[in-house]
Amino acid sequence: MCGIVGYLGSGDAYPVLIEGLKQLEYRGYDSAGVALVGSDGRLNVYKEKGKVADLENYTADKDKSGHLGIAHTRWATHGEPCAKNAHPHVSSSGRFAMVHNGIIENYAVIRENLEKKGYEFKSSTDTEVLVQLIDYIASRDNADTVIALQSALREVVGAYAIALVDKEHPDCLYAARKSSPLVIGMKDTDFYLASDVNPIAAYTDKVVYLEDGEIAYMHYGDKLRIVNLSNAECCHEVMTVPKNLGKAGKDGFGHYMLKEIYEQPDCIRDCMRGRVNPEARTVTLSAVHDHRDRLLSADRFIIVACGTSWHAGLIGKQLFEDLCQIPTEVAYASEFRYCNPVIRSTDVVIAISQSGETADTLAAIELARSRGAFVYGICNAVGASIPRATDTGSYIHVGPEIGVASTKAFTGQVTVLAMIALDLAKEKHTIDDERYAAMIEELAVIPDKMKEVLKSDGKIASLSKIFTYARNFIYLGRGYSYPVALEGALKLKEISYIHAEGYPAAEMKHGPIALIDEEMPVVIIAPKNALYGKILSNVQEIKARKGRVIAIVTEGDDVISRIADTCMEIPRTMECFDPLLSTIPLQLLAYHIAVCKGKDVDRPRNLAKSVTVE
Ligand code: G6P
Repeated sequence: MCGIVGYLGSGDAYPVLIEGLKQLEYRGYDSAGVALVGSDGRLNVYKEKGKVADLENYTADKDKSGHLGIAHTRWATHGEPCAKNAHPHVSSSGRFAMVHNGIIENYAVIRENLEKKGYEFKSSTDTEVLVQLIDYIASRDNADTVIALQSALREVVGAYAIALVDKEHPDCLYAARKSSPLVIGMKDTDFYLASDVNPIAAYTDKVVYLEDGEIAYMHYGDKLRIVNLSNAECCHEVMTVPKNLGKAGKDGFGHYMLKEIYEQPDCIRDCMRGRVNPEARTVTLSAVHDHRDRLLSADRFIIVACGTSWHAGLIGKQLFEDLCQIPTEVAYASEFRYCNPVIRSTDVVIAISQSGETADTLAAIELARSRGAFVYGICNAVGASIPRATDTGSYIHVGPEIGVASTKAFTGQVTVLAMIALDLAKEKHTIDDERYAAMIEELAVIPDKMKEVLKSDGKIASLSKIFTYARNFIYLGRGYSYPVALEGALKLKEISYIHAEGYPAAEMKHGPIALIDEEMPVVIIAPKNALYGKILSNVQEIKARKGRVIAIVTEGDDVISRIADTCMEIPRTMECFDPLLSTIPLQLLAYHIAVCKGKDVDRPRNLAKSVTVE
């Protein structure tokens, strides 16, 4: 959470910083700020509560000159969202300004010590404590900025990505990282710094990913220098990234979320490109091919993830057990990392993450690797921390996802899990040739079927108007549709702020059924598959208690569709691919209800796209 941008070069810093912040707004948007350093050492800091656009308005008539600057868009951890707590924070002497992403866990002790030494604090943030500490060490030891930074960082406990400017050195930009991402771009004499590669890719394709415990020292006219906290030089490979990677507009859609829902047919095609071959009826993933023996000899798979990615993991479990007969567990990364889990060197841990930066998922990976497990990453963001921390992996290739509520990443993750399961099942001989070929043929036509589902958008938009009254929703599904129920409920909660619960449909009898009355909308995911008869009984139970049933059914359904109050149809597919279709009406339902309620769909309150703190 929180996005950082920095610039040092021959051009004006401000436009680079503001454009960069706009691309990083998915990481947080409760306040934003910028610090600009003039060549004469003049330091201007502007901060504003709200979004980057509010900061832009605020700075409209301000002095925005300077070739050096840092900027930040915030997701509050310590201290409420307000201009005072917004970054950059400036040290009491006015010498240093800093932006920070992460949490300094021992900030209270450091703050108390500094207060005793006469330092005054303007905010309640942990970040201000760190910049004051750097200032204190620099003046106490008359230390060079890099040395002061190293000493300060040795004292702090926690996670950080920071960018620092020192008005005594208006031609230098400093950065450091531990557990939070930072990328440095280089073009001629210009340096670009950002929390992810997207703001940089517009200017250069040459980047370096800073590693944990490293400090970057950028001096105008010199080469990038990277040292660790003990001042030893660190060597880095300069990587090449695709240019204009981050150029994502709304393409005429009202919101990124809707655009991303509509992109799913193309995204899933991209995800399968070069992997699924419908003519030869094969599926091949290079990571599976390269690590075949390790994967096939695994006693067990453990999937770790958070949020929507965890829901994709639940579908992955069913796929691996159903198709490959591999015992699979699914854990929330945040629980897994602290519950002293049994991890054996014969286990394969699969980490799923859209952003590739989720702090808990990264920590779970580290734990798994330290216990000797082989770790396979499934990520969207190319070059992010998780793909670099895993032994191997597959990208989902669905392009940048900007809407905070994840949509196309979910279907991309499920598609990759299905491809891995099919590839392994074939290798393990747990699937016969006929079923394997039929499944590949079906997977290849899923994008066309997704397009069919999107045609019901108008109907769902009208339907949504009826349900804006609701304060609660229940989502029910069984088998492969149970994780879809969880995901549908999560989408509604995230963007419309309506309380929603996802439940395995048969479990409803053990509690949630008490909530059902004529006011309660119940969304039932009931495609025509082996469990259809069972879920039909659950629909009857709800109707008997006057619940309002919204059913997702297979086209041509003439049983549940007659009992339900409203139906949304999806094309027929194989049971294990149903989630790829049935999720879409639920995404649209959540979207339209949130729009009807006037909510900020792309930037829901209190959420962030990338959760880089615990
Ligand atoms: C945040 C996002 C969710 C996402 C979750 C996990 O909560 O708002 O959309 O599912 O993090 O993120 P990851 O990037 O690891 O998939």
